[in-house]
Amino acid sequence: MDASQEPHLPNYMKDDKVSQETKKLISSLPAAKDFMGYGLYNYKGCWYYPNTLQAVLDVQKHFRPRSTDIILASLPKGGTTWLKSLAFAVVNREKYRENPQLHPLLSQNPHDLVPFLEIELYTKNQIPDLSNFPSPVIFSTHMHLNTLHEATTKSSSSPCKIVYVCRGIKDTFVSGWHYRNMLHRTNMSQDAFELMFDAYCKGILLYGPYWEHVSSYWKGSLEDKENVLFMKYEDIIMEPSVQVKRLAEFLNCSFTKEEEESGSVEEILKLCSLSNLSNLEVNKKGTTRIGIDSNVFFRKGEVGDWKNHLTPQMAKTFDEIVEYRLRGSGLIFQ
Ligand code: A3P
Repeated sequence: MDASQEPHLPNYMKDDKVSQETKKLISSLPAAKDFMGYGLYNYKGCWYYPNTLQAVLDVQKHFRPRSTDIILASLPKGGTTWLKSLAFAVVNREKYRENPQLHPLLSQNPHDLVPFLEIELYTKNQIPDLSNFPSPVIFSTHMHLNTLHEATTKSSSSPCKIVYVCRGIKDTFVSGWHYRNMLHRTNMSQDAFELMFDAYCKGILLYGPYWEHVSSYWKGSLEDKENVLFMKYEDIIMEPSVQVKRLAEFLNCSFTKEEEESGSVEEILKLCSLSNLSNLEVNKKGTTRIGIDSNVFFRKGEVGDWKNHLTPQMAKTFDEIVEYRLRGSGLIFQ
């Protein structure tokens, strides 16, 4: 598949921003095609499209977070948009308490409020000037923890906080399937669905394998509880207040008793709910700064939607792979 021929293709899937040095590196890496035929390259155990790899290398080389920065991490379709909204709302709640109608989440897409390091800020061979971002700055990334640590552990500041969110493989996969259909503005065939399933099972997907990604953050959260928080999308659905309070506590901005009594947690949950965000004008039309339509990030948000798409055999295969790959780690998906 020729990435330059597709007008809707986001920059991160293309190969036009790659330096000579990275081209040379890419030519030495294990290569594969994604289920649509776009080239992926395996760098240190993780698969990338060429522009994404370039940006990841630039992040590793130049990004040095301050201790007050917050990094939100996820696999694509793991709950990124929700986590961005919740973290932004939690951290900035005091600023907009008096004037909730001015809350930025009402007028900007969560991805424009919390920029991706490698998909937005460090694209196009740019080294962004981050010095003017107001503190605390919230960044996001899809890099796995070992890759991110190449940058964060070289910082002269003490470690920054990293929050990871993930979702069970079956719903992540199904969400990714819908996302690719929306991205390419097409309804792909059952054959394409099966090809994507096979690739997912082999771990060949952007930022994959899935199990390497989740286990990197799982291990990181066990080793460094103070700086790495591991969250699950399903837990936020099941016990939203508990999880938002957990997030606030981790970010050193716990809700006070008065805030809890006045319904501050519930207000944040309402503001960040799928129904509220997806019905805002800003999220219904237009394009985010990363070049993806704003509405593409909002769909059903249900746990178990995989049942409408995967055969029992496909579901069993996913369960067995994850069980095998995460065995002994203590990380369990229901
Ligand atoms: P579905 O495709 O299952 O509906 P990401 O944000 O990582 O791209 O993941 C997208 C998934 O999160 C989509 O899942 C989307 O509907 C869901 N989502 C987006 N915003 C949400 C929110 N505010 N609350 C709950 N789920 C949300």
